[in-house]
Amino acid sequence: MSSNPLEAKVALVTGSSSGMGRAIALALADKGAKLMCCDMTAEANPAGYEEDVKINTHDLIVKRGGVAIFQAVDISDLEQLEAAFARAVSEFGRLDINVNCAGYWAPFRSFVNEDDALWAKMVAINTLGTAKAMRLAIAQFLKQDIDVNWGSRGRIVNISSCAANIAFPGEVAYSATKASINHMTRAGAIDHAGDSVNINCIAPGVVATGMARRNIENKDIFAVMENATPWPRIGTAGDIAGVCMFLLFPQSQWMTGQILAVDGGMTLGIPS
Ligand SMILES: NC(=O)c1ccc[n+]([C@@H]2O[C@H](COP(=O)([O-])OP(=O)(O)OC[C@H]3O[C@@H](n4cnc5c(N)ncnc54)[C@H](O)[C@@H]3O)[C@@H](O)[C@H]2O)c1
Repeated sequence: MSSNPLEAKVALVTGSSSGMGRAIALALADKGAKLMCCDMTAEANPAGYEEDVKINTHDLIVKRGGVAIFQAVDISDLEQLEAAFARAVSEFGRLDINVNCAGYWAPFRSFVNEDDALWAKMVAINTLGTAKAMRLAIAQFLKQDIDVNWGSRGRIVNISSCAANIAFPGEVAYSATKASINHMTRAGAIDHAGDSVNINCIAPGVVATGMARRNIENKDIFAVMENATPWPRIGTAGDIAGVCMFLLFPQSQWMTGQILAVDGGMTLGIPS
């Protein structure tokens, strides 16, 4: 495989400013892809663990010699998403890859204390926002030919959560909307396998990002998370980016509809 297996591919990444989305956007650029970076703001979450957190993702890519542009997008807003997909195509002429990292999590609370406003926001971002991005990506892929060397017409990687597979206390709405991402991955993959469009998903465990910092720094919460993770450390954004790249390389062209748990073994069973 060439050192730039994604040379000339165009990728739209949501949630690209921070954490996993940022690590994935940087990894894609390193392998030759041109990036349409989408997030609410270009600035990274200041609570993030990135050493270079003060530099925006697209600026960092350009600084390293890559190609990237940024568009402000709230994925719960169809018009904003449509504008971002249209810009990717007008700037770069095509779209090959869509990685959906943008997601919403709210502090732990019992199910009885969740309300409709929380559920509406979870559904609007995690379920409907991801579904909208996937549909826009597939609509563009279907206008393009199959790349026989790559094996695909286009590829989608979604980011759900280990909470979509196992019940984690205090996050019913989050878990349910993340489970919807797992299943739209499977069901969408069946609809579009015949079009040579791959749709796969990564279900991360506890990963050190700005989103998780509050839990990581809370001794009691972290003890539960550490105990639930058999591997002797929690995850990094790079762990997720590495598996995402595998799902985008030519070698994984015959995989679709799969949910890969990247969670240090959290969802294997009862930890010792
Ligand atoms: N960190 C973890 O432990 C963990 C575990 C499992 C799953 N996840 C999921 O991983 C994904 C990435 O999260 P992360 O941990 O890298 O967090 P992060 O906070 O570092 O990054 C999330 C990014 O998504 C953006 N975003 C949020 N809502 C958005 C919206 N409506 N429109 C556009 N962008 C939006 C944020 O601005 C942020 O830049 C999320 O979907 C999250 O639910 C995280």
